[in-house]
Amino acid sequence: MDKIIVDGGRRLAGNVVISGAKNAALPILVSSLLTDGKNTYTNVPNLKDIQSTCVLLQNHGARVEAAENCVTIDAGNLSNSEAPYDLVRKMRASILVLGPLIARLKKARVSLPGGCAIGARPINLHLKALASLGAKIELKHGYVEAEADRLIGADIYFDIVTVTGTENIMMAAALADGVTLLRNAAREPEVVALADVLNQMGADIRGAGTSVITITGVEKLCPVSVSIIPDRIEAGTFMVAAALTRGDITLENCEPEHLDALIHKLRLAGARIQVSGKTIRVEGPELISSVDVKTHPYPGFPTDMQAQFMVLMSVASGLSIISETIFENRFIHVGELRRMGADITISGNAAVIRGVPYLSAAPVMASDLRASASLILAGLVAQGQTEVNRVYHLDRGYEAMEKKFEKLGAAVTRVKS
Ligand code: EPU
Repeated sequence: MDKIIVDGGRRLAGNVVISGAKNAALPILVSSLLTDGKNTYTNVPNLKDIQSTCVLLQNHGARVEAAENCVTIDAGNLSNSEAPYDLVRKMRASILVLGPLIARLKKARVSLPGGCAIGARPINLHLKALASLGAKIELKHGYVEAEADRLIGADIYFDIVTVTGTENIMMAAALADGVTLLRNAAREPEVVALADVLNQMGADIRGAGTSVITITGVEKLCPVSVSIIPDRIEAGTFMVAAALTRGDITLENCEPEHLDALIHKLRLAGARIQVSGKTIRVEGPELISSVDVKTHPYPGFPTDMQAQFMVLMSVASGLSIISETIFENRFIHVGELRRMGADITISGNAAVIRGVPYLSAAPVMASDLRASASLILAGLVAQGQTEVNRVYHLDRGYEAMEKKFEKLGAAVTRVKS
């Protein structure tokens, strides 16, 4: 397995171009299953999760071509309604095919995604909502088996805000008979991006970006040519890197509006931030101030930035509390950060962080995607050489991360195994 070696202590400066958003690209690529013809997507990040999605769509009978950051998908000959365990276990987001397959093929057999490092992550709300649309659903031998001759619009309330749940049902309802109301829907930019693409395909979806989405089913959807929105979590990770290394980084091709909560917290931590169109310039403070953070669904502070922000607070002056309200086990990075000298205590869903003057390099183990990014950030400010193991998590969600860091002046090298 590859590992990444980081020589700490360098100030990062320069420009970095933000890639397309993984969590927008995944549902958008999957939405091709709803159309009969060739879709073209640009600004698609070159990531393991995107490759897994392409393999999954091919498995269902779609013709997929991928080159650089462009992917074309033609689901004209959709044939196979089964998503097998071997594909789903590699990527939980595979569950996104469930809604489109039922809508298009009237049936689906999709392996149940298991839990993952950060939490149990059930899909009960996806299934309950699909049942409300009229799908007959059974769980057998680790698979969801679903059937529906016709999906019929319904009034659906999500007990918990769920991003992929909202996306799955939006796709299914786009081809249902009648009107579907999704209440307490996720408001994430990635949900809005998917709704925009579905509307370009000919769907009738209103209210995406608010907590009530209205979907009026249409007969058929047509292929599209679209560009994927910028990745707000990749952008946020580089913003924290600038603040952390007392650096000066300008992010290009990002969407500042999607980063409001993080910008607010980084300013409180002392960073100087200038926003202009699609660029954000972040200058790190001499002295990082402590700031409390609580994760929430969008527009709240993203859980996907919690681990990275914790690294910043680890070297801040004073005490901060970071509360995680989305996932029950998203503090696995804490043990590794402690090994690098961070002073962090966990109490329930809160981490109490007492800032220390510096971190010290150590060999560490990445447990999930965002934790991997946080360990690389920690390595950037640690004294000595940090070795981040199991970086395959990172390759699932950050395009060319070490190359981008190198360009900014960091000493980050990948050691291939
Ligand atoms: N939940 C349920 N039942 C459900 C669905 C969700 O109880 O049927 C719970 C989850 O267990 C969790 C909460 O609801 O406690 C929110 O989960 P959500 O469904 O919103 O998460 P997700 O859709 O599985 C997406 C992102 C995650 C991101 C979360 C939260 C994608 C592919 N994944 O996951 O991204 O952390 O929303 O914003 O969009 C990442 O990129 O590193 C990542 C984990």
